[in-house]
Amino acid sequence: MANLTSLLLVCVVQILSTVFARSPHILFIVADDYGWNDVGFRNPDVITPNIDKLARSGMILDSSYVMPVCTPSRNSFMTGHYAFKSGLQHVVIYPPQATCSPLNYTFLPEKLKELGYATHAVGKWHLGFCKWECTPTYRGFDSFYGFYNGAEDYYSLVVAGGKDFRDNKTPVNATGEYSTHMHAKRAVSIISEHNVSQPLYLYLPFQAVHQPLQVPEKYSNMYPNVKTDSRRTYLGMVTAMDEAIGNVTEALKKKGIFNDTLIIFTTDNGGWTIHGGNNYPLRGGKTTLFEGGTRATAFVSGAGIQKSNYVYPGIIHAVDWMPTVLSAAGGLPDSNMDGVDQWDSLRTAGESKRSEFVYNIDDMKPEQCGHAAIRMGDYKLISGYPGPYQGWYKPDQVDYRHYEESTLNEIRPFIDQIMLFNLKDDPNEHVDLSKKHPDIVEKLKKRLDEYHKQIVPANFPGVTKASDPDNYGGFWTPGWC
Ligand SMILES: *[C@@H]1O[C@H](CO)[C@@H](O)[C@H](O)[C@H]1NC(C)=O
Ligand SMILES: *[C@@H]1O[C@H](CO)[C@@H](O)[C@H](O)[C@H]1NC(C)=O
Ligand SMILES: *[C@@H]1O[C@H](CO)[C@@H](O)[C@H](O)[C@H]1NC(C)=O
Ligand SMILES: *[C@@H]1O[C@H](CO)[C@@H](O)[C@H](O)[C@H]1NC(C)=O
Ligand SMILES: *[C@@H]1O[C@H](CO)[C@@H](O)[C@H](O)[C@H]1NC(C)=O
Repeated sequence: MANLTSLLLVCVVQILSTVFARSPHILFIVADDYGWNDVGFRNPDVITPNIDKLARSGMILDSSYVMPVCTPSRNSFMTGHYAFKSGLQHVVIYPPQATCSPLNYTFLPEKLKELGYATHAVGKWHLGFCKWECTPTYRGFDSFYGFYNGAEDYYSLVVAGGKDFRDNKTPVNATGEYSTHMHAKRAVSIISEHNVSQPLYLYLPFQAVHQPLQVPEKYSNMYPNVKTDSRRTYLGMVTAMDEAIGNVTEALKKKGIFNDTLIIFTTDNGGWTIHGGNNYPLRGGKTTLFEGGTRATAFVSGAGIQKSNYVYPGIIHAVDWMPTVLSAAGGLPDSNMDGVDQWDSLRTAGESKRSEFVYNIDDMKPEQCGHAAIRMGDYKLISGYPGPYQGWYKPDQVDYRHYEESTLNEIRPFIDQIMLFNLKDDPNEHVDLSKKHPDIVEKLKKRLDEYHKQIVPANFPGVTKASDPDNYGGFWTPGWC
């Protein structure tokens, strides 16, 4: 009996040690509102040497998709589920809204902790914070350093009249430091202080390069030939973020774990064309269902990725990252989720396991940005209003003041409209084929209707007065839902 017990113990230890030996460190970087045409490996006018080098040492993802705005993409990264099944399909969570990513979902870092990972989050949360249970350190992260909302001031760390920055649960006052530097510094210290006998999961969702457009001059001065102020500042922000990524990469090397670290980089949605971002030659940008809003600048690199200097053509969707990261970590993803485990595909540069996905389904009225779209194979169907700013904008061609306004007049023609594109022949969505191919329209509509049956009504509450930061010493603080 004693022998059997010790034998069992040996087995358990062996299993555990193979699990741990197999588990890479994982760095998951999210750039905010980062455009398709805003990276050096695609556009030589953009200064991103660190991103370019990492991307080229692994695979640039050519067909990696996200949701058109921040909150739904982040919800997918954490849960592996579509936002329209979480009630988060309608725009984003605003500071005074009493809601958060549904608490019955298990977040990726919770699963990673079960596998023995140390888990840390640095940067922007944007998955709700009205009660503590919604916040990062209650949803699987050992530590959190950053802010709960989106779009705050990079220096004063204020959004919508409240301060928003925390070290774990403790409020942090601004010191005037630029937030990209703060985030990078913390990421570097987490890496340098980490005990490498434990696998590390570092989730690094930068505030950059979301508006407000702010950056130390040293970075914007690197773009003397850029004509518009917004674009020059935005590109400075991009280069500051790239420098931050260089610092984090350097920290991994110093620690001796660079080659044991899997690095995943993605934006949460396309560039916001009215705030310096650019997605040319793709159509549209952030907030639209066009490719400019949803086809992500993304790459994978490092531990486990066998191919380098390669542009991976397979389709990946935001919902796939949760099961894919879990699988790379040695875990067993739940097969009952929207996301599919793409780890083998990425590891070996093999065929993608996905040929179909939903861009979004939002039942709000068109003038409130309700819309839906689906891709099946080469075809994409958009139903209703795709979102504001639908053109093909060249970088630095125009300032935002010259864009069309998103008025009801612009929206009206799209109510009840269907568009069909063949993304293989027409990746930039110039030619609407809906009249030419009613049979394909019918097929995609039918499929979209099937998904629609699974929709959870949008959870988009009004303002909760009790959220007022004045009730909490000036900080946006949980405790009012
Ligand atoms: C979470 O709850 C929602 C609403 O009750 C439900 O639709 C969804 O299926 C649940 N998800 C999980 C993973 O339990
Ligand atoms: C932040 O600064 C205010 C004064 O502006 C001070 O009263 C408060 O104690 C500070 N809070 C923290 C967490 O440092
Ligand atoms: C990168 O590290 C250098 C050296 O510590 C520092 O001067 C610089 O500000 C850091 N850059 C960012 C973006 O954090
Ligand atoms: C790292 O963790 C291991 C296992 O818990 C422990 O034996 C070792 O002393 C730790 N190393 C340091 C430098 O703390
Ligand atoms: C990582 O591995 C490559 C290939 O084996 C090697 O050339 C490189 O020096 C290693 N880098 C670090 C920082 O250990």
